[in-house]
Amino acid sequence: MRALKTAILSAALALGIAGAAQASEGVHIPKQSWPHAGIFGTVDKAAAQRGFQIYKEVCSACHSMRLVPIRTLAGIGFTEDELKGIAAGYEMQAGPNDAGEMFKRPGVPADRFPSPFPNDQAARASNNGALPPDLSLMAKARVGGEDYIYAFLTGFEEPPADVKLMDGMNYNKVFPGHQVGMPNILQPDGVTYADGTKATVEQEAHDVATFLTFVAEPHLDARKQMGVKVILFLLVLAGLMYATKRKLWSTLH
Ligand code: HEC
Repeated sequence: MRALKTAILSAALALGIAGAAQASEGVHIPKQSWPHAGIFGTVDKAAAQRGFQIYKEVCSACHSMRLVPIRTLAGIGFTEDELKGIAAGYEMQAGPNDAGEMFKRPGVPADRFPSPFPNDQAARASNNGALPPDLSLMAKARVGGEDYIYAFLTGFEEPPADVKLMDGMNYNKVFPGHQVGMPNILQPDGVTYADGTKATVEQEAHDVATFLTFVAEPHLDARKQMGVKVILFLLVLAGLMYATKRKLWSTLH
């Protein structure tokens, strides 16, 4: 009887926990297909470069990537000269100089992607009170990772009739609570891709999500390759050990 009670109680508890987890995740985030997924997957460098173009021309007006040195982009195929050019496009706060004053200098590849705002208060003041979060680790920070980023960027729509939006807020079907301080920012042909890819909203969202996945884990490809090598090595080693064992025991029998 006791055992039965415990079993029922723990089943109820497990269901309860599962239910709560589902409720906190809210909406379903559909899975997209990503060339970097799976053990043999590698980052689609062309897509990541297009994603960087989106970050630079669109997102960086509000979002920093304070943990990402500009030279990290060598990992998606930018050359040293291209990196210098990209870095020079950013103004960095530096100083103090001998007169005790802070000054601006052009960026170098070792700098990290700066915030467009001098401080968080200024960032909130320009965004209706909402703080645009740093995007360095965004692909890891949200349940669903790159699928969430894609769903979020393509999830802006007119609010349902029974939802009253607060002033300056926008409706997003996957954002927790649905009211978000960020505007619907991706537009068809909002950028002109250097490689001629058609810039639909879905394409732009997929590319920038690929890019944000890369910056959140720039060594993912190398780690996977190492993993595959280690597994191959272990398989060969296991084969050799087995052959050795057979050989040794054959003389002992
Ligand atoms: C006009 C300013 C602005 C631009 C441009 C902008 N964002 Fe945002 N973003 C915000 C603000 C403000 C928030 C915080 C919203 C909130 O908490 O209500 C935000 C939040 C986010 C979030 C977090 C959502 C969450 O679940 O918390 C992601 C991801 C994001 N932005 C990605 C992007 C990407 C990618 C781009 C470029 C395509 C971009 N943003 C462009 C202002 C902006």
